[in-house]
Amino acid sequence: MKIPNKIAIVTGASSGLGAAISNALVAEGATVYGLARNSDALKVVQKKLGNDFIPITLDISEEKAVKNWVFETFSDEKSPDILVNNAGTGCFGKIDEMPSDEWYKMINTNLNGMYCITSQIVKLMKAKKESSHIINIGSILGTTTRAEGAAYCATKYGISGFSEALFKELREYNIKVSCLNPGSIDTSFFKSSGIQAHSNMLQAEDIASTMLHILKTPDNMLISEMTVRPLNPRAPE
Ligand SMILES: NC(=O)c1ccc[n+]([C@@H]2O[C@H](COP(=O)([O-])OP(=O)(O)OC[C@H]3O[C@@H](n4cnc5c(N)ncnc54)[C@H](OP(=O)(O)O)[C@@H]3O)[C@@H](O)[C@H]2O)c1
Repeated sequence: MKIPNKIAIVTGASSGLGAAISNALVAEGATVYGLARNSDALKVVQKKLGNDFIPITLDISEEKAVKNWVFETFSDEKSPDILVNNAGTGCFGKIDEMPSDEWYKMINTNLNGMYCITSQIVKLMKAKKESSHIINIGSILGTTTRAEGAAYCATKYGISGFSEALFKELREYNIKVSCLNPGSIDTSFFKSSGIQAHSNMLQAEDIASTMLHILKTPDNMLISEMTVRPLNPRAPE
């Protein structure tokens, strides 16, 4: 795909990887609808990226609100070419000690939210003549597990299965589906779990340029899944 003038949706665009992906897409000439709940944080991203970044305050797990926004914003004449399902949340802890709210929050955001927006956007993408692309941000924890990560791993293994099945369902409509599985990234993601981010983690900008590479492949070539790790994940001494 050639990125200039394409319309993209990036969920979780208010910080971390989503903000870096939005930056990379705008720099390549795309218009980005950046979705997140925190409107102040979205405004900060817009100030940096300019008017090609359109901030949308939306909770992706609220199905009715997502449907309304898609209906009011897009049509067969103006529809997204790229959907990046990046919004996600993680909480790590013992299964019998973690508050049940955290389980439901992860399922609602990482799985139900991804379903809500994808199911709406696929309808529009199917009507397009040109190829379009859905990229789901999974995790290394969708390919391997860790103790005290049962809920998060369940959602990220779910994203991997969702992506693989959807790729098989949508290939005949010229819609690509990819799952990008990063290892630890230096963002504020771990804050609620008390894990300190550090510079030996992956950098969000590097994952964003890897995502551009996945998008830019020729129309008949699909990178369906990719795992990216820090070579040495330990914090610098
Ligand atoms: N950091 C890592 O080590 C790592 C590793 C592998 C994969 N990942 C994945 O990468 C993705 C991005 O994470 P990050 O590291 O950039 O963390 P982050 O800085 O915490 O970003 C998470 C983003 O998701 C948004 N979000 C959360 N719930 C939402 C909801 N219900 N509706 C709309 N937006 C919502 C947040 O915005 P609001 O709070 O404003 O809504 C925020 O923009 C996640 O899917 C995460 O699982 C991260």
